[in-house]
Amino acid sequence: MADLTGIDLARVRELGKAENARFVAERPRSMALQEQARRSMPRGVPMAWMDDLYDHPPVWVSHGEGSSFTDVDGHTYLDMYVADMSAFCGHAPRPVAQAVARRVELGTQFLLPDEDAIAVAEHLAGRYGLPKWQFTLSATQANTEVIRLAREVTGREVVLMFDGKYHGEGDATLVTLEDGELVPESRGLPPGMPAQARIVQFNDFGAVRAALEPGDVALVLAEPAMTNAGFLLPKPGFHEELRRATRDADTLLAIDETHTLVCAYAGLARAWGLDPDFLTLGKAIAAGVPLATYGMRDEIASLIAPPDEAYRVPGAVVDEVATGGTLFANALSMAAGRAALLEVLTAEAFERTAALGERLATGLRRAIGRAELRWSVTQRGAHACYFFVPDPPVDGAGSRAADDPGLRALIRVFMANRGVWESGWWLGPTVSVAHSDEDVDRYVDLFEEFLTEVT
Ligand SMILES: Cc1ncc(COP(=O)(O)O)c(C=O)c1O
Repeated sequence: MADLTGIDLARVRELGKAENARFVAERPRSMALQEQARRSMPRGVPMAWMDDLYDHPPVWVSHGEGSSFTDVDGHTYLDMYVADMSAFCGHAPRPVAQAVARRVELGTQFLLPDEDAIAVAEHLAGRYGLPKWQFTLSATQANTEVIRLAREVTGREVVLMFDGKYHGEGDATLVTLEDGELVPESRGLPPGMPAQARIVQFNDFGAVRAALEPGDVALVLAEPAMTNAGFLLPKPGFHEELRRATRDADTLLAIDETHTLVCAYAGLARAWGLDPDFLTLGKAIAAGVPLATYGMRDEIASLIAPPDEAYRVPGAVVDEVATGGTLFANALSMAAGRAALLEVLTAEAFERTAALGERLATGLRRAIGRAELRWSVTQRGAHACYFFVPDPPVDGAGSRAADDPGLRALIRVFMANRGVWESGWWLGPTVSVAHSDEDVDRYVDLFEEFLTEVT
């Protein structure tokens, strides 16, 4: 349970009403646009998350630059959410803006490779350590292909994941634990999916072994540190044990670095010496231009082989693993990826963002200490998270139990009203390549101001 000792709950309730009313009152244009949009789009947004992710209504965006963005009512926000990690390059980073503009002039879509793809794939191989790469438009699609390949290699169906995970909106991963039973995570999913999945708690090594025991698990799909239920760090030795157990069980291991790629130059898998069979990357690797990718071992890559017979007859079975899409690896995405990876996401940028991340975590801990709260903070590189309990949770169940969604929602709207765009409730704040010491200090000062208001 969240430890709210020292928090004035009556003040929290009163502040919640006032801050939410202020948020709406100060954003008339955003509110009017959503009303207009309801006529042409469900919930008045082009993608349901935009209305789902916040307790307050969404703001409609005008533009972004560096560490901030501006809404249509003229409010500018210091961005600590960085679009769920996808804007880690900062908004409108110059090298990417220029590369994209150049590519648009030259044509963006041919369904043929261009030389940027070689530059990107060679860079990924050198940086992240797996030899072969394929490209999609989203990490969801990358994970979907990883799962298919793993099923083909092993001849098994089951995917093992960790409670509190999110690996995208592919059917195979949208399975969750409810009262100890596996169920589809939301509506519209085939009821049979849970039979193809298994979910255990992160850091529970005995549970991993037990889940692998039947010998039917094709793939373990894991983040190096979990990022969608707070920021949950692995216990010492957990990943080594996980790798050993997957090898013992002839199960493949995919590490999903879609979020954690912001934590270290070559991701946490490389920093921690993990040795996965697949590695998924997405979101920030092309500065938010749609591009995702997965790396794999040579033996697995050989499965993406030409079919015995060319694909000429629609409707016939094809002797090939199902991968690919018309827009995947388009020239625009690859140009953006090349500029982002080689010119923005540099080793120097990661040194800087890691120092900023430490400044952020130190500042949050100091503010929590001054308010005499028994809360905790986790951080690696550019990313941090605060928890309403003295010891950071180590698994999804612990993180859920420690949370207080109402309090998190209040922090977010309080900050938005004062020009700071707080992270989503499941994540925690992240600095981008464009953030500065002053940005971090401003965020920490506002966090402290909030704590002063409610203690
Ligand atoms: C760890 C992880 N993997 C994959 C995804 C899916 O990314 P996308 O929504 O770009 O498909 C997400 C999205 O939040 C994620 O957090």
